[in-house]
This record gives sequence, structure tokens and C-alpha cells, in this order.
Amino acid sequence: MNQARRPLIAGNWKMNHGAASGVQLASDVARTTAAFGSVDVVVAPPFSALWKVADALQGSRVELSAQNMHPKASGAFTGEVAPGMLLEIGCKWVILGHSERRAMFGESDAVVAEKVKAAMDAGIRPIVCVGETLDERERGDTLNVVKRQLNAFLSIIADKPGFAAIAYEPVWAIGTGKVATTAEAQEVHAMIRASLAAIGPAMAEKTRILYGGSLSPKNADGLLREPDIDGGLIGGASLKAEDFSKVAETAQKIAGQRLVSRPLVSS
Ligand code: 13P
Repeated sequence: MNQARRPLIAGNWKMNHGAASGVQLASDVARTTAAFGSVDVVVAPPFSALWKVADALQGSRVELSAQNMHPKASGAFTGEVAPGMLLEIGCKWVILGHSERRAMFGESDAVVAEKVKAAMDAGIRPIVCVGETLDERERGDTLNVVKRQLNAFLSIIADKPGFAAIAYEPVWAIGTGKVATTAEAQEVHAMIRASLAAIGPAMAEKTRILYGGSLSPKNADGLLREPDIDGGLIGGASLKAEDFSKVAETAQKIAGQRLVSRPLVSS
């Protein structure tokens, strides 16, 4: 982590928790992360729980995210949810291009880019996911694949530096307990940072790049200390408030240490 960017810890609940248990989990997250004022905390419940969870988060520091959205404003798109509908119920964020959506629901780079544009236009902050499969990593294609995925949307998020976040989630690390090593993750994060820098210094300095894939209280400290890892997108460990808030606590602790080791210079 770097002190120029506030750490961002986001929980992707995937298809877990309806409204009743979701409200309980969100309230627990709000309570257990309340003291971590240097960290931005986000939860992403399923669509059906968003409205009630939004209510439960009123007055807390925890922000609400959706896990997906349709790019169009309205119309004949059975089963889909529009950007304006998410905004109306208090979603500030939306996760886009998650590998599960790419793999199981056929979302191409072009579809992801269209959604990113719609989110930016609507004023919803996208967390855009990229990441290689095990096959791609074993072929030595990791950086090429992630670059291709990035290139589809980088110019779209360049309009507002820092508004969007990017999540690097190696597919082989998701839900497997096989976490990327700090060096493996940092290598990809550094490439993403360099791609942002090619657009302009503000993009590189302000855009938060999250790591996702079996992130847990056990491995968060090492990963979050890497210079280009600005937070986490957490699946399994976000389903227990205690585990999730421990990762947020780790981010808070590292942010505090960074400030002490590099105090602001006064003239
Ligand atoms: P896990 O933390 O369960 O590996 O999931 C990561 C993820 O896909 C978050 O979006």
C-alpha cells in the first residue's frame, strides 16, 4: 500500500445471504470496522438484499456495492437491473467483469467495457475485475491477458482519475484457498500501475488496485504491504464479519505505519 491512496477493502458476497441474514452481516461489518477510519469499506450483497442492507448501513462508514448491472437505462431486458435503479437505492459502487461473470455468463471484454462506461456515466464507481486462468498462467500469458482485459476499459475510466478501482483476481486463486504469492500479485499490480501511468500521473497515483483470490486474515498482511496493492476484494472471508474486519484492521494498521515511517513534510 502507498499512503497516497486510501486502502479499500470490499466484500463480494456473491450468491450468499438474503435480506434477513444480509442485514445482520452488514450491521456486524459496520460495527466491527467502525474504528478503522483510514480504510474505505464496501460490501456487495446480492440484488435482493441491497435495499434492506442500504437501510442497515445508514449512518455507518460502510458503502454499498452491487455485483453486476445492465448497461442500459431501462427497457426490455428481463432479469436485469439498470444503473439508475442501483443509484436510487444507495449503491455507490458496482463490481464489473468478475471472472465468474466472464466465464459463466459470457461477458466479453467489450461487454465489460460497455458496462464500465454506463457506470461512469451514471456516477456509480466501478470495481473492474481482471485476471488470468491457471492455463493462461502456465502458458506464461498472465501479463498479456491482463493487459488485454485492461485495454478494453482503461480509456473509459481515465475521465475521472481515482473514481474507478481495478481488482486483480487470478482465477486460479478464487475460492480455492490457493493465494497468489506476494511477488506474483505485485508483479501484475505493477504492470497495471504502469499501464495507468501511461495514461497520466493522476491515474497512476489515484487509482486503487485491489487484490482478490483467497484473501484472508492469514495472508492479508503480506499482500497489503506490497507497494501497488491498495486493498482487497474478498469473497469467502467476507461472509464472516470477524474475518472481513480483521482484513480491514490489517489495512488500517499498515496505513498507520506508513504515515509514521513517512511523515508529511511541513515547510
Ligand atoms: P475468494 O476470496 O472466495 O477467493 O473470492 C474472491 C473473489 O472472487 C472476490 O470477488
